[in-house]
Amino acid sequence: MKFMKKLAALIICASTVSDCLAIGPTFTLDAGHSIGKVSPILYGLMTEEINHSYDGGLYAELIQNRAFLDDTKRLIHWSVVNDTVSGATIALDPTNSFNDKLTTSLRLTVMEADKKHPAGVANSGYWGIPVLPKTEYRAAIVARTDSNFSGPITVSIVSEDGHTVFASEKFSGLTTNWKQFELTLKTGRGAPTSKAHFVITLDQPGTIWLGLVSLFPPTWNNQPNGFRKDLMQMLVDLNPKFLRFPGGNYVEGDTVETRFEWKKTIGPIAERHGHPCPWGYRSTDGLGLLEFLEWCEDMKVEPVLAVYAGYSLKGAHVNPGPDLEPFVQEALEEIEYVTGDTNTKWGAQRAKDGHPAPFHLHYVEIGNEDWFDKSKSYDARFAQFYDAIKAKYPQLKTISTIGNDQPETARVHSRSPDVTDEHYYRSVDTFLHMSPDYAKKYDRNGPEIFVGEWAAYETSFPPWDKLSQKEPPTPNLKAAIGDGVFMAAMERNSDLIKMQCYAPLFVNVNPGGRQWRPNMIGYDAISAYGSPSYYAFQMFSRNVGDESLSTASRETSVQGCATRDSHTGEIFLKLVNPQTNAVSLNIEVNGVASLASTGSAITLSGNADQTNSLDHPRNVVPVTTAVRQVKPQFVYTLPPNSIVVLKLKPRS
Ligand code: AHR
Repeated sequence: MKFMKKLAALIICASTVSDCLAIGPTFTLDAGHSIGKVSPILYGLMTEEINHSYDGGLYAELIQNRAFLDDTKRLIHWSVVNDTVSGATIALDPTNSFNDKLTTSLRLTVMEADKKHPAGVANSGYWGIPVLPKTEYRAAIVARTDSNFSGPITVSIVSEDGHTVFASEKFSGLTTNWKQFELTLKTGRGAPTSKAHFVITLDQPGTIWLGLVSLFPPTWNNQPNGFRKDLMQMLVDLNPKFLRFPGGNYVEGDTVETRFEWKKTIGPIAERHGHPCPWGYRSTDGLGLLEFLEWCEDMKVEPVLAVYAGYSLKGAHVNPGPDLEPFVQEALEEIEYVTGDTNTKWGAQRAKDGHPAPFHLHYVEIGNEDWFDKSKSYDARFAQFYDAIKAKYPQLKTISTIGNDQPETARVHSRSPDVTDEHYYRSVDTFLHMSPDYAKKYDRNGPEIFVGEWAAYETSFPPWDKLSQKEPPTPNLKAAIGDGVFMAAMERNSDLIKMQCYAPLFVNVNPGGRQWRPNMIGYDAISAYGSPSYYAFQMFSRNVGDESLSTASRETSVQGCATRDSHTGEIFLKLVNPQTNAVSLNIEVNGVASLASTGSAITLSGNADQTNSLDHPRNVVPVTTAVRQVKPQFVYTLPPNSIVVLKLKPRS
């Protein structure tokens, strides 16, 4: 009798395969019904001036210290050019400045020079000037002279040893008044190199003053004052939906005076004084408020605008009340600059700056990481900003910078923020443990969540100020696995988690270029690469449906999430195997009668310590393969240390 019962159970099991309890590691998803909407703007980018992200990074300006303001005592990044016959000196000359924003100039005095033995000044760029073959560079030089000299002046891109001239042009017509000269330098054939300088020389004695020297390669969409093409392409390839700017700590500044003061970042570049950024170098502000907005426009993404809220990184705060009011007004004016019609004061200014059409804005973040404010003034400061913003722009969603990752007592209580920003810099192990339950406990009726900064570290959180420059600037595959489990957790909870972005985005990998690790994208003057974390993010952001499906796992440390495209029915099943051995996983897709027998898999895998670099940019990259014999219940083998996106189509 017992035997007959067992046999009957086996027969039932064999006829309804997908209802069987599979033995061993199992991942189940319920495609029968959606458990909620996936946020359409879940995946985005966070950016700030850190690691030479803009100057020496995305912002395509090639001249470092173009306005001679980087050091008030020394002419850094500039050097004299002469030979055994010619002679010249250079000096900072604050008594002779172009305007009240660019408060100094470079005085070049050539004592000895002729056509065969020119003398002048060279700029070393941001760790070299990138020379690409058959390329046009736009130079702009603000200069004047004394009454004894009017030119000509030679402008060239020259190899570091001075032996090869890659491109050269001349201009003359200098007077004792400041004038701006524009030139196009064209390179010929030849291998790309960044071992080059930008050189300005005279072939006769004379004195000139330079107020500003700028050099741009071709930029993304040919924008003047624009962005590096390769880095923009890498960002677009991430399929982002929003951009959080201008920080991070960059919006706060070290002090109130060195905050991101948006009004000083607009208008012609010769009107931008620049300011010290909190990461130990000076920002030109060449990438200013309008450029951030145009960056969003170029990527077709939502701006998430952070406004300065009265707290700065080194601990100073502005008291809520009358003291804070000017900063609240500054934020309101900033929002008007972004969104106002041209009949508003700041909308008109935006039009004057070259962009008459207002930008769409839905999110405003009030400050950054205000849990650091020991005075505990954030609740009152937030309330003051909240009331003013809501009164004028009721449609805007306000983001509080103190989220659920901080103690309840630290959060905002006097108002209800629409969104709260959580930051997670955690070790891979921590992410592996916290991700399964992440956000389960959260109040679904509370504020939406923005995970505005996060990254997995291979081991523990390295304090940025004690960072060893020996460590690779970008993470390895192990870290990407940590990223994968956390992204799966955020995607599973995307009814609540509306936006998330990795940080930091960029790093210039040259010695002295970085202040933080790990970072998503590395580069030098001429090339760039994505870290394994870059590719993990790309796999998630490019393969996501609009409906969430419930998932469960048994007997496995594999973590994952599933979504479906409600238009095509395609299912995106993301699986992360943190183990060093392969896992044969029973995959059960419940709630569907059948699936197309061929699907595809995108796989990122390798040794945990493998990584990418400038020299080896494609060690760890995703690979797409076909998956055959797909059924509602099938076995799929995940490689060791892997992130896999399975794309399963309904049977047509
Ligand atoms: O991403 C680097 C820094 O980490 C950000 O500027 C800051 O917000 C956080 O502490």
